[in-house]
Amino acid sequence: MTAGHLNDAALQAIEDLTGASLPLLFQDFKADTGEVCMLYIPKGRLFLIGLGASPTLPDILRTFRSFAHKYRSKIRNKLFISFLHHNIPSQLELSVEAIVNGLLLGTYQPGAYKTEPTDIHPLLDKNAELRFGVDQPTKSLEKAALRGQHIADTQLSIFQLVNAPGNKKSPELLGQWALDSGENHDYHVEVLDYYGVQKKGLHALLAVNQGSTDPPAFIIMEYIPKAPGMYPLVGLVGKGVTFDTGGLSIKPSANMHYMKSDMGGAGAVLGAVEVAARLQLPVRIAAVIPATENSVDAKSLKPGDVISSYSGKSIEVIDTDAEGRLILADGLSYIIRNYNPDVVIDLATLTGSAVRTFGYHAGGLFSNSDKLAEALAQAGEYTGERLWRLPIWDAYKDDIKSDIADVRNFSGKPTAGAIAAAKFLEAFIDNHPAWAHLDIAGVAYNDSEFASQKTATAYGVRLLIAYMEQFAKTIKN
Ligand code: BES
Ligand code: ZN
Ligand code: ZN
Repeated sequence: MTAGHLNDAALQAIEDLTGASLPLLFQDFKADTGEVCMLYIPKGRLFLIGLGASPTLPDILRTFRSFAHKYRSKIRNKLFISFLHHNIPSQLELSVEAIVNGLLLGTYQPGAYKTEPTDIHPLLDKNAELRFGVDQPTKSLEKAALRGQHIADTQLSIFQLVNAPGNKKSPELLGQWALDSGENHDYHVEVLDYYGVQKKGLHALLAVNQGSTDPPAFIIMEYIPKAPGMYPLVGLVGKGVTFDTGGLSIKPSANMHYMKSDMGGAGAVLGAVEVAARLQLPVRIAAVIPATENSVDAKSLKPGDVISSYSGKSIEVIDTDAEGRLILADGLSYIIRNYNPDVVIDLATLTGSAVRTFGYHAGGLFSNSDKLAEALAQAGEYTGERLWRLPIWDAYKDDIKSDIADVRNFSGKPTAGAIAAAKFLEAFIDNHPAWAHLDIAGVAYNDSEFASQKTATAYGVRLLIAYMEQFAKTIKN
C-alpha cells in the first residue's frame, strides 16, 4: 500500500503507533509539503508532518518553522522526532539541521513592545529537549543539530533588530549589536562614531546623515578562523539605513512605516558574520556597515546638491531618497581600498524597482563576475533565499551621467531603477574584478505566519553562509 508520499515501512510505523485506520487516515493526510496531522496516542500527541516526495532544505525549514509557530499551544517542551520518510536518511545531517533551525525560528514572537508578558514558547523553555529517533546518533548529527541552533539563534536576533522601530534603533545601536556579537563570538569589531566617520572622509555617509539628530556609525567587522591556515578573504557591505523617510524627496506616507526595515542589508551582513564566527567557517571576512537615518530637516541634503565621497568622486544628488547607493558607495570603496578582498558582496534594500521586478520571491543579483554570480545564484537556490541575475551593461551608463559632477544618483526616469542603482555602485568598486550587488528590497521584509504586517526574514544570512562555505571549498581544490 502507498499513501501520499509514504512507503510501506512508514505506514507500518504509523499503524503500530496509533492503531489508526490507515485508509481513513490517508484520505485526510497525503504527506504533502507542510501538511500536518495531529493524532492522540496513549502517551500524548503525535504529529504527522508532511515533507512531500523529495524535500529540499527550504521545504524542511519552512515546514518546521510554521509547525512550531502554529502548534505552539499543542507541543510540549520535549519533542521526539522520528523519520518515516524514505528519502530523508540519505541526507540526515541536513535534515536534522533544517528541522532544528526551522523549529527554533517558529518560536519567534514579534510583540517585543507589548506590556503584558507573553507566554514563552515551549521550545524555548530552559528544559526544552529535542530528540531524534535515529539508529545511530553520531558526532556529525550532533554537530548538525548544533549548527541549526546557531543559525536560528542569530536569525532570531536579526529578526528583532530589523523589526525594531526606527525610534528604537539608532546607528549607534546597530554598532552596539556588532560590538556585543564580536565580544560573545570572538571576532573583531570597531565602530566609528561621527568624528571617526569624518576623519576617515566618508563624505557620502556624512551627507545622508546631515539631516538626522542621531550621528552616523560606520561598523567594521573582521572575522578570522581560529585554526591557523590560509583562507580566502570575503568582503561584505550592508546598507544600514535605520529609517528611510526619503529625506527632502520625501516618500508617500502609506507604506513609510515599513522603512524601519531599510537596514535589512546590514542585518544580513551582521548575521552572516556572527554565524561564520559561531561555526568557524574556513574563510576570512571583512565587513562594513555604513549606518544612518535618512531624515527631513533644515540641514538635510537637498535635491541637486553635489557631495563628495570616500573614493574622492563627486556625486550630484538628484533624489535624496536614493540614499542607499550613496552610503554603499563609501562602504564599497572603503572595503576595497583597505582590505582588497578576493570577492566583494554588498546587500541592500535598495530599490522599489527590484520589488516591482521580482515581487517578494527573489533578490536582484548584479555582478561583474560570472563565476561569482553563478555561485551566489546556486547558494540562493539551495537555501531558498533566491537570487536572479540582471545585466549591468554599459548601455545603462547614461543613467548615472551628470553634467556637473562625476556621477549622479538618479536618472530621473521610471525605468530600469534597480539596474541604474547597480551601475551607480559599480562606479565605486575601483575595477575590482569580483563584485556582486544584491538588491534585497523585496525579500528582507515580508508577509509571514508571525504577524498581520510584514516582518523581517533575515534574508541573506543563510545565503551568505552557504555561499562562503562553497567558496572556501572551491578555493581549496
Ligand atoms: N529604501 C528604498 C528602497 C525600498 C523600496 C526598499 C521599497 C524596500 C521597499 C530606497 O532608499 C529608495 O527609496 N529607492 C528609491 C530610489 C529612487 C528615488 C531612485 C526607489 O526605489 O524608489
Ligand atoms: Zn530611499
Ligand atoms: Zn533606502
